[in-house]
Amino acid sequence: MQNFTLQNPTKILFGKGQIAALPGEIPAGAKVLMLYGGGSIKKNGVYDQVKAALKDVELLEFGGIPANPEYEVLLEALDVIKKENITYMLAVGGGSVIDGVKFLAAAALYEGAEPWDILANRLRTEKGLPFGTVLTLPATGSEMNSGSVISRRETKEKLSMGGPGLFPVFSILDPEVVASVPPRQIANGITDAYTHVLEQYMTYPVGFLLQDRFAESILQTLVEVAPVIMANPADYKAAGNFMWCCTMALNGLIQKGVPGDWAVHMMGHELTALYGIDHARTLAVIAPSHYRYNLSAKKEKLAQYGRRVWALTGDSDEAIALAAIEKTEAFFHSLQIATRLSEYTEDYAGTAEKIAARFTERGWLGLGEHRKLAPADVQKIVEMSY
Ligand code: NZQ
Ligand code: ZN
Repeated sequence: MQNFTLQNPTKILFGKGQIAALPGEIPAGAKVLMLYGGGSIKKNGVYDQVKAALKDVELLEFGGIPANPEYEVLLEALDVIKKENITYMLAVGGGSVIDGVKFLAAAALYEGAEPWDILANRLRTEKGLPFGTVLTLPATGSEMNSGSVISRRETKEKLSMGGPGLFPVFSILDPEVVASVPPRQIANGITDAYTHVLEQYMTYPVGFLLQDRFAESILQTLVEVAPVIMANPADYKAAGNFMWCCTMALNGLIQKGVPGDWAVHMMGHELTALYGIDHARTLAVIAPSHYRYNLSAKKEKLAQYGRRVWALTGDSDEAIALAAIEKTEAFFHSLQIATRLSEYTEDYAGTAEKIAARFTERGWLGLGEHRKLAPADVQKIVEMSY
């Protein structure tokens, strides 16, 4: 049980029709830039709802932020922010749009020459241009946290940034938006949120019983609603539970007072950067091998997870831990998510060496909850995922 500080300033407006509450959340006199992705919001009615709600607000638009938000595109948005003296931003989209807006929030107030340095030098953003979000895709938790992940095609890099200045001021979570999300993205959302919980839970016991139960309850709820929401994304109750699970999985609460791992994400981000594989799918590729490779260090929590989340029985922690990894992999398969790198690309030979070399170059020499996972270990885990 570790000491902690918990401060999450994001106001959540959850439920049907909450987009109409937008005007009350935007400061009077603000000049707002609304940012969105490739156009899904124009097909599902979210764009019209936002425009109608903000009809009396001075509003500019920037569309076209791609999945895995791209630095070059964001620089174009940064120009608009500067030229138009934008004072507030509204992200309308999934994790990619929200993360893109977080980068812009930092870059708008950044005084250095090259905004990429915020990512390359892992600069912590204390103050950003304020923004709110309308979430359209439950998955990342970005709507209630201060992290962001930005990609740069030119160099095939995908790097994280964050800081207390990057929490959204407010986020609107209307589960009705889930009705138009395609099955591939629903599956991604479930897998991403599930793995977020695992990253903060699958470490070693520290006796923080409530934190374990919070984490397990999110995993159990995701397992329960997954088949319902996969079959019918318009099921409002399932959508609401799914959405709230995704937010709670990565809004800072369950990480407090317990060790965190995050090695699965660090390796997974490289697979997206190298091959363009959807974020969640990279996690499903890496997680089973990561847990098998680190079985002895994670055995107690794996066994607790197996018993509590998957109702596995037996006396041997090791046998339950191994069975729990199988259950996890089978859960991903039930969402039509493949768990082998070779199922996504034919060019996988040499991937493990490449990722290990990148980590060495960046000085990422000790990952995981014990900070002991060296590039040589990373290489073996990625190889096991082929
Ligand atoms: O671009 P549009 O046309 O809007 O379509 C999007 C996009 O193609 C579509 N979509 C979103 N809402 C929809 C919808 N389609 C129909 N109906 C709707 N209501 O879904 C596609 C994927 O969207 P995207 O935002 O890319 O997905 P997601 O929310 O999974 O975000 C993934 C990004 O978030 C990062 C990932 O690395 C990745 O770049 N992450 C951010 C984190 C954070 N900030 O805390 C943590 C995560 O671990 C993750 O790394
Ligand atoms: Zn993730």
